[in-house]
This record gives sequence, C-alpha cells and structure tokens, in this order.
Amino acid sequence: MSDLTNKRIVLGVSGSIAAYKSPDIVRRLQDLGAEVRVIVTNGGREFVSERSLQTISKNKVHDNLWDKEAELAMGHIELAKWADVIIIAPASANTIAKLCHGRADDLLSTVILATEAKIMIAPAMNQHMFASSAMKDNLQLLRKRGMLIIEPGFGEQACGDIGEGRLAEPSEIAKQAADLFTSSVLSGKNILITLGGTKESIDPVRFISNHSSGKMGMALAHACIQAGAKTTLIVGSISVNIEKRAEIIHVVSADDMYKAVMKKIKSQDLFISCAAVADFKPKTTNKHKIKKTDHSMTIKLTENKDILASVCQLETRPICVGFAAETENHIENAKIKLKNKMCDAIVLNDVSKTGIGLNSNDNEVHLITKNLSEKIEKNTKQIIAEKIIDKLANNFFQSS
Ligand code: C5P
Repeated sequence: MSDLTNKRIVLGVSGSIAAYKSPDIVRRLQDLGAEVRVIVTNGGREFVSERSLQTISKNKVHDNLWDKEAELAMGHIELAKWADVIIIAPASANTIAKLCHGRADDLLSTVILATEAKIMIAPAMNQHMFASSAMKDNLQLLRKRGMLIIEPGFGEQACGDIGEGRLAEPSEIAKQAADLFTSSVLSGKNILITLGGTKESIDPVRFISNHSSGKMGMALAHACIQAGAKTTLIVGSISVNIEKRAEIIHVVSADDMYKAVMKKIKSQDLFISCAAVADFKPKTTNKHKIKKTDHSMTIKLTENKDILASVCQLETRPICVGFAAETENHIENAKIKLKNKMCDAIVLNDVSKTGIGLNSNDNEVHLITKNLSEKIEKNTKQIIAEKIIDKLANNFFQSS
C-alpha cells in the first residue's frame, strides 16, 4: 500500500459546498503520514470553519496574500517551496478557470503559479457546470500542463441534482496523492538497510554511541518500499518512527549489527549501509557498574568490524552502497572510501555544513560511483532518499 510518510501537502480549499469535507481530507492525508497545511480561498471560507481546519491540520490556516504576519512566518513563496504536492479539493469552477488564466489575485492561485510541486485538482460543482464545454476545455488545459485531475463522482448533489460533479471521496483523494509517489522501479528486489547508531557497552549502564537519528535510513526505507522493494531494516539506536511495512531487526552494538547483516545478506539485491556504526568498542565490558574511584579513568578501545567492507568482500554479494560523512576534501575522500571498501556507490554528506546531515531534517549529498559523481541539491531527507533510490535503480537495475 502506498503512503505519504514525510510528505508535505498544501490543501487548497475553494468555494464549493463540498468544502465541508475538507477537514476529513486533511485527516485522510495525515492517516497516510503527510504533514498538511491549508490555504482557504474567500469562497472556501463560506463553507468551512477556519478553526476546524486549523485544529485538524495542527497548523495555522493560510488565507490572505497580503497578511504581513503570515508573509513573515511562511509566505506564499515559502509555502510554494515547502509543498511536495498541492491538492485543490474542492476545486470550484471559478478556481479552475483562474488557474487556466494564470491569475495571481489570491493566496492559492499565487502559490500555484510559484510552485514546482505536483498539483492535483479535485473538481466539485453542479453536474451542468461540470458538463459545460468551458469546464471540459479548462480541465483539458490543466491536464496538458501536467496537473492531475481527481475525477469527481456521480451521485446526488447538494443542490438536489443527480449527476457527475460530486467531490471525490476524501480517502480516494489521499490514495491518489500517495500513488503519485509510488513506482515499480525496484519491484521484485530485496533491499537490506542498516540505520541508526550503535551502542558499545562500557558497563551495564554506560555506553559509547553517536548522534545518529536514523532519519536518513528511514527515509531510504520509505523510498525503497514506495519503489516496490521488499525491504529489511537492521535498526540501531534511532529517534524516528519505524517504517511498519518493512521487516525490522533491532540491534544494539556493532557486533550485533554485523551478525544480523550477515544472516540476511544472501538473499539481497541491494545493501545500503546507512548506519553510523561505532568504529571502536571498549576492549572489555565491565560486568558491574564501574565505581568512581579516581578523578580520571582510561577506557581501552578496540576496532569494530567494518560491516560494509565485510559485505563487499563476500564472494557473492548484492550491490553495496555506503555513506561517507566528511568535513574536508569531500569528493576525494569519498572516492577513496569507494575504492577501499570496494563498494558500488557512496552517498557523501558534508557534515561541516549546518542545517543538513546528522540529526537534521534536511540533507544535501553527492552520489558517487566508479563513473559518476552527481550532486543532489538540498531538500528534505525524504526527497533526497527518493532521488538516491531512483538513481541507484537506474544505475544498477535498469536492464535486469
Ligand atoms: O569508514 P567510515 O566509517 O567513514 O565509513 C562509513 C560507511 O561505512 C557507512 O556506510 C557505514 O555504515 C559503514 N561502516 C560499517 N561498519 C563500520 C564502520 C562504518 O559498515 N564499522
């Protein structure tokens, strides 16, 4: 089943009686994992309360192009950039006509002009209006421009007529939005991903670990599942929700992670080593809690096995992808890692930059293989993950 985990959706609500269903659309989108912000037009406001939309979306409702405060917080350009998808539901005849002409006289139409996001239109109006030649031509024009029309249903209308023009069901609107992100580029493939940090025990209560949140690995998991792959996750210490559609194996230490990977690796087509595996562990783990006897102490460390390099050395092995967090000489260091670990691709993070990488919601990476070095510009980790998966599928699985 497709879903909208980590997706950002702007719901535009315009003037149709069906606007009373818009809080339910917000709910159905949230049920699939989306974060939703709502824009209401003047017409939309006549049919649904701003308070309902605000309470359910858990965000301020946007309604005014000229609101100075809103422009300071999240203005029309930011909203346009923020969205992965904009859904206008219900889309009134007037709003549809305005889109055709590229008008920008209210917040919704302006955001539509300013966005690069995918746009979905769910018309809702009287059957005769919907059947009119003007509406048919307008919808055809919007389709031609790449907008997706969510066809209205047939049935009894608010005005008492029976015909075509009822707003599609909220669950159907959410499903069609989720389907936008589904592909089959990895259908039939088995993918193993390690993610999160490992914990290396010093004694029963203390450990050495790192700041890894598991966000990037979990975003990759969503992307793999959306692309049709059977996905297994070997999960260390994380602070994100688990992708329920994957097979999950929890581990604590690097040794546990190594064993779990080796147990699963045979049947895999792709191994993505996204975990922040501790390079070292305490040489011995104290059986009892270490007492404070002195003002200083020394912990002797010993090297952990390199899981990625070990998988790469297997006689039969899947396509192997590693991550490299670098602070200087990024590309050169990543290329050295690609060679030393003998993997097929490295995803390079510049961890010296603020606002991306470890523990952050955004990332900016380079995908490096033997023949290619491609920058994937700053975006949410989910979008970055989808681009990585798309490129890996194209590079390594296209002809199989
Ligand atoms: O060598 P470095 O730790 O920078 O390499 C990072 C890559 O190697 C990541 O893909 C990480 O998951 C993997 N790795 C591993 N086992 C280790 C250390 C790193 O699989 N012990």
